[in-house]
Formats: sequence, structure tokens, C-alpha cells
Amino acid sequence: MGSVQAIRPARYHRSRRLLRRCAICDLFEFVAPPDPPKEIMAEGAVLLRGAALPVETELLAALNDITATSPFRHLVTPGGYTMSVAMTNCGVAGWVSDRTGYRYDQIDPETGNPWPAMPDCFLDLAVAAATEAGYREFRPDACLINRYEPGARLSLHQDKNERNFAHPIVSVSLGLPAKFQFGGLKRNDPVKTFAVRHGDVAVWGGPSRLCYHGVPVLKEGYHATVGRLRINLTFRAAR
Ligand code: SIN
Ligand code: FE2
Repeated sequence: MGSVQAIRPARYHRSRRLLRRCAICDLFEFVAPPDPPKEIMAEGAVLLRGAALPVETELLAALNDITATSPFRHLVTPGGYTMSVAMTNCGVAGWVSDRTGYRYDQIDPETGNPWPAMPDCFLDLAVAAATEAGYREFRPDACLINRYEPGARLSLHQDKNERNFAHPIVSVSLGLPAKFQFGGLKRNDPVKTFAVRHGDVAVWGGPSRLCYHGVPVLKEGYHATVGRLRINLTFRAAR
């Protein structure tokens, strides 16, 4: 990963304003209304554009520490396919897949040690985004970290290995832009596609908690900070 851009994009300033509301900000917003802070994906599901930009440097530094301890790896599905997306985890539980099935495990099977702890900047962002989306009780204990190289994809799936579906999912996009598919509760329900960019945060819960979602093949590209990669942080209350 290269250096952080010195000049912040307009979206950065807009999202800072949204995350740190104050009387002066409200006054400015009255004079010049910002873009809508939330894009509705479905009932209970929102996309918070640029919400991670104020903490991108901290997130990427913490990510480097995590992957130095628990490196990215390509997991095998129960059906015997090797996933094109490389994964690792932080938090007290990590999502893993192998020939025996999908599960949360407190131990990284690759290292034999617990997963790296969830950094404060990860936790704070996930809680702030969930709160902004209306899920005030969310305290994630697991963060699945996905790494997409161009050509990688994640087929439509539901997140359903967690114990309690009352908690939402918070999903942070970093690096290369991607398409995020968000469907319904049945695999064949119509799917809406959202362009997700560096710093965007999606939150889904309540009636959308078990909606099918996925990422079609990632296009070739180069991101100034993250390089030839897309990183996705998926926060869950797993246990
Ligand atoms: C996931 O569903 O685990 C990841 C979704 C994404 O990469 O945006
Ligand atoms: Fe998922």
C-alpha cells in the first residue's frame, strides 16, 4: 500500500461533516445542503457514502498489523472450490470455511493462535455507521476482511452463520471501486446494483438482515492509496 493522498477529495469533507455534526455544520448545511448522506438500498439497508474517509489512514495502518499476524489466504468451500477472494479476520471470532463447512472460530486455523484483536478504529467506525443507520445496539465481535484482486468475485450469498440476526452487518469498502449487488430474501429475487467506492459503508439489518448480496468480478484498476486491490471489512456480531 502506498502513501495517503495529501489532498482530500470533496467526499472526505462532506463525510466528516456528516459524522461530526455541530451547530456550525448545521448552519452550513442550511446554506448549502450536502448530498444525501444515506442512500437507501432496501428497507433497513443503507449506503453511507464516504463514511470511512475520515479514518482511512488509521484503518489501513491497522489492517497492515492484522495481516502481518494473520495473513490473507484463499479458503476452500465445503464443495471443494478455492475462493477467488482472499480472507482474514480480526476480533474474538473469525469466519472460516473448509471442507467441513462454514463456521466462526476463535482460533486462526492457519496460525493456531487467536485472531488479532479488533482495532479501536475498526470498532468505532462500525458502531458509528450502525448508529447512523438506526442500529444503536450494535457491538461487533468479528470482522471478516476480504481482499479482491481484479478478477475476484463473491457470489450471491446470505450472512447466516451468526447466532443472532437481530444485529446488522456493517460493510466497509476500501480501494478499487466495485459493484455491490443487493437482492432479497430469496436467491432468485431481483437484485439492485450499487457502485461502491473507497470509503463507502453499507449497513443492512432488520428486514434486510438476511438479504442475498454479492460482488461481481472486480474490474482491473489502480487505487492511489490501496493499489490494485479492493478491501472489504465486514463487521458482525457473531456470538
Ligand atoms: C461479504 O459479503 O462478505 C463482502 C461483501 C463485499 O465485499 O462488499
Ligand atoms: Fe456477506
